[in-house]
Amino acid sequence: MSGTERRGIILAGGSGTRLYPITMGVSKQLLPIYDKPMIYYPLSVLMLTGIRDICIITTPQDQAQFQRTLGDGSQWGLSLTYVEQPSPDGLAQAYLLAEDFLDGAPSAMVLGDNIFFGHGLPEQLRIADEQAQGGTVFGYRVADPERYGVVAFGPDKRVTGIVEKPEVPPSPYAVTGLYFLDGSAPERARKVTPSDRGELEIVTLLESYLADGLLNVRQMGRGYAWLDTGTHASLLDAGNFVRTLSDRQGQQVGCPEEIAFENGWIDRAQLLDRAALFQKTNYGKYLRRLAD
Ligand code: G1P
Repeated sequence: MSGTERRGIILAGGSGTRLYPITMGVSKQLLPIYDKPMIYYPLSVLMLTGIRDICIITTPQDQAQFQRTLGDGSQWGLSLTYVEQPSPDGLAQAYLLAEDFLDGAPSAMVLGDNIFFGHGLPEQLRIADEQAQGGTVFGYRVADPERYGVVAFGPDKRVTGIVEKPEVPPSPYAVTGLYFLDGSAPERARKVTPSDRGELEIVTLLESYLADGLLNVRQMGRGYAWLDTGTHASLLDAGNFVRTLSDRQGQQVGCPEEIAFENGWIDRAQLLDRAALFQKTNYGKYLRRLAD
């Protein structure tokens, strides 16, 4: 693939201590969201953007499980590369770990525990993808902004800063875990110094773009769902959300086979292979129907 084509990163490291004891034996991003592993959802977001070359960053001990779950990506017409994050030293570190993989290309990074749903999502992704220089992130209104990176606005509504987990949030707009950045991200990440909590903060990297007038903060309005999976309750809520929606509509949410097939990345025979693999599940029956 060409050096300027946008590449994908899924950051799926972390110790998942907030979901103990479940995550003592399995990575958080492999836990079920109703009928699929959590990572299928962020993977689908990258695929909807049109990205086929994707790097998956995991802890060293969990890498084998991700490989068993996702393989080399060829079943979806993708190329998956696995990279280890030896210790969770912050989100901006992903750009250093993925530097060789990116090879100067622009990227879309999505956090492996972020779930997005919304009618206009492909359009939002397309607009962000088309911006060749600088970065795009998404602001989403939440009831508990203090748990996230939060956007600060000046009197003219222009973005003046992004603050990580502020005690007093400057606005109700959290920055979602989906970052479209240009090829300068690894170089900028190298200049990020650890915060008080010892992490290379993504917000510091974003502020470097902001300082250069190169950060675009797009709003994801109330018609979108950006779901949290950070607590036992919200994990269950996310699963119920997907179940409610997919049962009602008879359509899947976060189905890589469907996106790959619609994009022409796999043919009917490959889709039927997957349907056969999952034939005992409703997911498999859904794939079967898509092929027909
Ligand atoms: C991270 C980021 C934060 C962002 C959030 C989105 O927080 O540091 O800026 O808003 O992801 O999910 P974490 O989930 O690592 O606490």
